[in-house]
Formats: sequence, structure tokens, C-alpha cells
Amino acid sequence: MDARSIIAAIRDGKPPAPEALRWFAAGLADGTVTDAQAGAFAMAVLLKGIGEAGRVALTTGMRDSGKVLHWDMPGPVLDKHSTGGIGDCVSLLLAPALAACGAYVPMISGRGLGHTGGTLDKLEAIPGFRTGLSEGQLRAQLKDIRCAIVSASAEIAPADRRLYAIRDVSGTVESIDLITASILSKKLAAGLEALVLDVKCGSGAFMKTPEDAEALAVSLVATAKGAGCKTSALITDMTQPLATAAGNALEVIEVMETLTGTSVNAALFDVTALLGGEALVLAGLADSAEDGTRRVEEVMRSGRAAEWFGRMITAQGGPADFVDRWPDRLPAATVIRDVPCPAAGFVTTIDGQALGLAVVGLGGGRQREGDRVNPAVGLSDLAGIGDEIGRGDPLCMVHAATEAQADEAIALVQAAYGLGPSPVAEPPLVLKRIT
Ligand code: URA
Repeated sequence: MDARSIIAAIRDGKPPAPEALRWFAAGLADGTVTDAQAGAFAMAVLLKGIGEAGRVALTTGMRDSGKVLHWDMPGPVLDKHSTGGIGDCVSLLLAPALAACGAYVPMISGRGLGHTGGTLDKLEAIPGFRTGLSEGQLRAQLKDIRCAIVSASAEIAPADRRLYAIRDVSGTVESIDLITASILSKKLAAGLEALVLDVKCGSGAFMKTPEDAEALAVSLVATAKGAGCKTSALITDMTQPLATAAGNALEVIEVMETLTGTSVNAALFDVTALLGGEALVLAGLADSAEDGTRRVEEVMRSGRAAEWFGRMITAQGGPADFVDRWPDRLPAATVIRDVPCPAAGFVTTIDGQALGLAVVGLGGGRQREGDRVNPAVGLSDLAGIGDEIGRGDPLCMVHAATEAQADEAIALVQAAYGLGPSPVAEPPLVLKRIT
């Protein structure tokens, strides 16, 4: 096989045989394929597509380009993946909640990407928390505590790491085929029996329209199933932040308030329970998605999910008393100010991407790979769609390291909110279920 003929076939609209795509994925990892060929391949796939069989072959080829974990646990091994949004801290609640329901959850997560936050950055706001476990440590923790949230080791899907870096500089990130293979190659390398996908849709998501979100969800579900993993997806709202905070420690506060019942965020609670219900029914731990949702609600309300969360935090190096003493254990910003609403009205729209970029500007995310993240900064108490706000009343609070950074964020947040004279309905949390 050779890379040139594979690229030419895709260019001419004749998707190559599955074996050729698997060969190409292996070549990305072992260096047989050059950077120029990888870039041309990505562009040909973006322009012409490779079809469903091609997506399965590319995904499994990229999954198998590195280490693939296999488990021998007394219960099902499952996970959730979100395509990313603002205030999306569901993973922090869901991993321990699923563990409390009897599942095993080796959650390999990512860092902030563009305007969206990352699960690993959020957890690292907890002093001492380690995300880089060895395979042996991950195995031991899963056996003991049933859940772990960790970074991908260099051995997981190396073909994706190479292709992603090339896509990033060649205008080829926005291909549904390539996004599908990229997301799933890493997730499926964790050796899952079942996977639930949260495909976010709206201003704070990568997929801004329901049509784009559905196309991605359908592709992800069909490809993951084609690769042998039981999978379903919910398309969920991202026209406004899911939590009322955006920023690493600030989102952990909201997670703890919800898990301990001190101040439950209903949207965060409901999305977590609905995704958990999907995962439990796929894994055979519930009779229906509704039954699964009830089980997840029950472990969150009873405090059992908080207990499993505490065990996971301690096992990964965080404070042993975190669940009881979290308000004293999290870092706080030095400058905390209101963001005054420039005019009276009802919130009609929120530019989530702009809010996310405001958090990045405060130092809560990365402008460049390798930047240090300030865990304490961000936005809290965010007003939501439909809220009525008086002139000068707060749209949210900004948590910053300096007054100048707070000023910049305030202007960005004010511009991100659309106001109107009459009330608008809150958007539904779930737009569609894809099975
Ligand atoms: N996340 C990934 O891991 N890959 C993509 O291509 C897009 C989002």
C-alpha cells in the first residue's frame, strides 16, 4: 500500500478499502506517512469524506495505533464524552455517580481547547490532585474505587496526536469524519463496553447549529457502534453556560454544591442524570434510560456520589477531607467584582464562545500550548437566558488576578449578553437523543 494512492482515491471521491485506511493510520503513528501526505489526506477527507465504513476503519486504525486497554472488572466499563462547552463540569459529577451505581469508569479526559474548559484543568484546581497516572496506578484505582479521571498517556492513539497537530495548522479541523475518528480513537482505546456522548449545540459549543450537532452525533454513534462499543448520544443545549460558573475552581465549587446538596444547580444535575441514565442502560445496569436516570439522581441526592468523588480525589493526591472542607481547600482570586448590566432588560442571548474567551483572557485557559492556567479566575453567578436584569445590576461576578484583567473581562462579558424588552423562554436542556 502507499499513501499517495490512498490520498488520490479519496480526492477522486472513491473511498479506499478499510484496510488501506487502517494502514494509513498505522503509518501516521510509525512515521511511514510524511507530514505533507498527512496534510493532503486531511484535506481530501474534509472535502470528499470517507463514508461510514471509512470512518470506522480510520477510527479503529487510529485506536490501534497505540495502547488499547483491556479490563477484567466485576462490572461494566463505561464512559461519557462531551464535545465541549462553557461551564460543562458534568464529568466531575458523572464519573463518581456511575461508580456509585456499580459501573467502572476509566475517564481519559482533556485540557481546555479554544474557548472551552477542560476536565483535567478543573480537577487540578484541587490542591495536590494528579491527573497523570501510570497504567498500573489507573488499574489499581479502578479496581478499588471504580472511577478515575486521568490524562491520556503518550501511548494512547499516537496517530491522532500527529494528525491533530497537522489538522490544526492546515485548516482541516472542521471535518466531521476527522473529528469523529479523533474523539473516538482516544475514547475507545480505554477499552470501553459502553459510551454515552454529550454533543453540545449552541453559541458556547463547537457545533453552533442543531443540524451540525446532529450530523456529528449521528457520525459518532454509528462509528462507535461500528467499532463494537454500545453507544448513544444526547444533543444538549449550549446556547447558555451549563453551570452558572466558568473557570476551574469556580466550577469545582458548583460541582461540590450540587453533589453535597448545599445549592443544587438544576441544569447541571439534570444533564448529569440524563447522560448517566443513557450510560447505565447501555451497560445493562438499568432497565431503561429513565430507570438509569432515577438511579443517578438517587446517588447524587443521597450523598453517595459525593462519597465516591471524595475517594477519587484522595486516591489521586487531593485532600482527604475535600468533601467536608472544600470551601477552605480551593484557591480564590484576589480581585472579585460585579459585572454591571449596561441596560435594563431580559437576557435573550448569550455568546458562550465570548464568555469562554473572557475566561481564557483572565488566565483560566491557555492562549498557547504549555501556558500555565490560573485555577482561581473566571466568572461566577452568571445570569441565564430569560432572567430580568436592572440597569447596573450584576450579569455575573468576575474573579481576576489584576484590576486590569477584570476591566477587560467586564467589557467582554457585557458585549456577550443580548438583552431585549420582553421575556424569552429558557431553552430545553436536551434537543435530541441519537441511538
Ligand atoms: N476533540 C478531539 O479530540 N478531536 C477533534 O478533532 C475535535 C475535538
